[in-house]
Amino acid sequence: MDGNGRWAQKKGKIRTFGHKAGVESVRAAVRFARQTDIQSLTLFAFSSENWKRPEDEVSVLMELFNLVLNSEVKKLNKNGVRLKVIGDVSAFDDKLVNKIRKAETLTAENRQLVLNIAANYGGRWDIVNAAKQLATQVQQGEITPEQIDESLFDAKISTHQVPELDLLIRTGGEHRISNFLLWQCAYAELYFTDVLWPDFNEEVFQTAVNDFKSRQRRFGLTGEQVS
Ligand code: FPP
Repeated sequence: MDGNGRWAQKKGKIRTFGHKAGVESVRAAVRFARQTDIQSLTLFAFSSENWKRPEDEVSVLMELFNLVLNSEVKKLNKNGVRLKVIGDVSAFDDKLVNKIRKAETLTAENRQLVLNIAANYGGRWDIVNAAKQLATQVQQGEITPEQIDESLFDAKISTHQVPELDLLIRTGGEHRISNFLLWQCAYAELYFTDVLWPDFNEEVFQTAVNDFKSRQRRFGLTGEQVS
């Protein structure tokens, strides 16, 4: 969800104005995903590197997460959305962590859409975290190192409960992955758009999906084999 700061600055406003405006785009993205056959949507809300931003920007972002949880969880639940927060939430304050856990429990049985919010998330953290869990299992004699394969590793990755990642969209004009779903990106289609996140809406999402549908996914095979 890149481009909030630049969107605000273009309008002569402070950066946090862009984050607040970005919440409406989050609503649009969830609405679009629910209305189409998308089973899972993961939004990168706060990276492990974002703590290094100016203190007041970090605190506005924390406040926004709180506000969004207060105002949206009931609606998400009513609409059959399962909410999951992925990332190292232990760094957030206890009140916010409680709110997150409550929302996850409330929506745990919903099946219409899984909405993952990546908060204090990093793709490398996700991989290291999986490795640590497997190492502990080896140490405790539950598995042997030889048993570790991609599927066992995948089971420890934070998005293990959702299908393989198909499409990664980055707004804001940069052509980078920036430590997002690194493990999950292996065969994902990448889509970059100059649209700044607060201008993201159903139409932009549909354009990205149309582009995705026009691609031939080969997974290492030849074009002939696939068609
Ligand atoms: C990146 O834009 C955006 C963020 C670091 C924050 C995203 C957060 C929201 C949209 C708010 C709420 C979301 C949820 C899911 C509760 P940037 O600031 O790096 O933009 P720039 O590249 O223009 O500086």
